[in-house]
Amino acid sequence: MGDQARTEPSQSPFHASTLDSKVAIVTGGGSGIGLEITRQLGLHGAAVVISGRRDHVLQAACDGLRPHMTISYVTGDVRKYEDCQRMVGEALKRHGRLDIVVNCAAGNFLAMAEQLSSNGFKTVLEIDTLGTFNVCRASVEALKERKATGTSIVNISATLHYGATWYQAHASAAKAAIDSLTRTLALEWGLHGIRVNGIAPGPIQGTAGLKKLAGVDATGSGGSPPGKTLEDQIKEKIPIGRAGTAWDIAMAVVYLCSNAGGFVTGHTMVVDGGEWMWRPPVVSREMVERVSRGIEGASRQVGIGGRATSKL
Ligand code: NAP
Ligand code: COA
Repeated sequence: MGDQARTEPSQSPFHASTLDSKVAIVTGGGSGIGLEITRQLGLHGAAVVISGRRDHVLQAACDGLRPHMTISYVTGDVRKYEDCQRMVGEALKRHGRLDIVVNCAAGNFLAMAEQLSSNGFKTVLEIDTLGTFNVCRASVEALKERKATGTSIVNISATLHYGATWYQAHASAAKAAIDSLTRTLALEWGLHGIRVNGIAPGPIQGTAGLKKLAGVDATGSGGSPPGKTLEDQIKEKIPIGRAGTAWDIAMAVVYLCSNAGGFVTGHTMVVDGGEWMWRPPVVSREMVERVSRGIEGASRQVGIGGRATSKL
């Protein structure tokens, strides 16, 4: 496989009928990662109902995707339980069943904890965590109806709370709570045939989330040190050597919702090119090559390191 295919993938390894006749709801499906998840669910056979607060964003997404798939939208705010009930009701009215729920709606911004207001913290917890619970809770009875074939919930999380992330007190707490919810619901709802999983994306190029967290302002400049683009910075800290794409995340969703993921539940899959575990090397590669064997040799001579060959 050439570099082009690796960095700009477009061919799904899954069969186009993988999700045939399934019906899905994707919150936040009008933009960014949610839009590509919607597209891929559709290209693999599912009918999708997307939701969000902005009518024009949802309308544009539907206009763009309608030639390729069955798609419609419902406006609503995931913080309001009645909106979530309406979303599920509409999906049932339009398609008669519900098989897949993807919770992708979220809100975020950079804020120093000592300057973050109580309402700012609460707002993000309410969109991300309460919103995810609301949508799951509003969907559960419809999902139970499909027990014979099995159903899937996928909660889009993050890696912010693995360790800790600067200026992300609110979103880290929200996503940690989502991961906990993923496990609890998987435990409780397995008997209804509902698998509940999460996906924790790394930095995904071209998204609102990445722009916001990289501190990119309206002029396009961000918090990168002089001489370094945001892309350079990202590449340096991702073992795979590139930022993620929304396609990477969408493929993970298709896998989790397909039969191939049929024994996977309660798991949050990290799709981040290894970013979360990156830390700077203690010494450079050149240094390792240059001095490592020398150190070993010196150790042998002075009789340290357990393999000493002292002639004394
Ligand atoms: P995005 O395009 O801004 O997606 C967020 C979506 O959520 C928008 O469509 C937004 O639509 C919707 N939304 C926000 N508040 C809502 C509410 N109260 N009720 C209903 N819908 C609401 O951002 P993205 O970067 O693609 O992020 C998508 C998901 O990936 C999020 O869960 C994010 O935390 C996660 N993630 C992203 C990255 C990344 O690098 N981008 C990394 C890790 C995790 P409206 O504004 O119209 O409501
Ligand atoms: N820094 C600090 N606090 C902020 C902030 C920022 N950049 N943006 C908003 N807040 C605070 C507000 O000041 C307010 O608190 P206050 O009443 O104490 O002043 C609180 O958050 C709610 O703000 P509001 O604008 O009323 O919330 P909203 O519900 O209209 O919007 C947001 C929610 C702020 C998360 C908004 O950015 C949003 O809708 N985002 C969705 C898209 C997104 O974030 N995508 C990336 C996903 S990772």
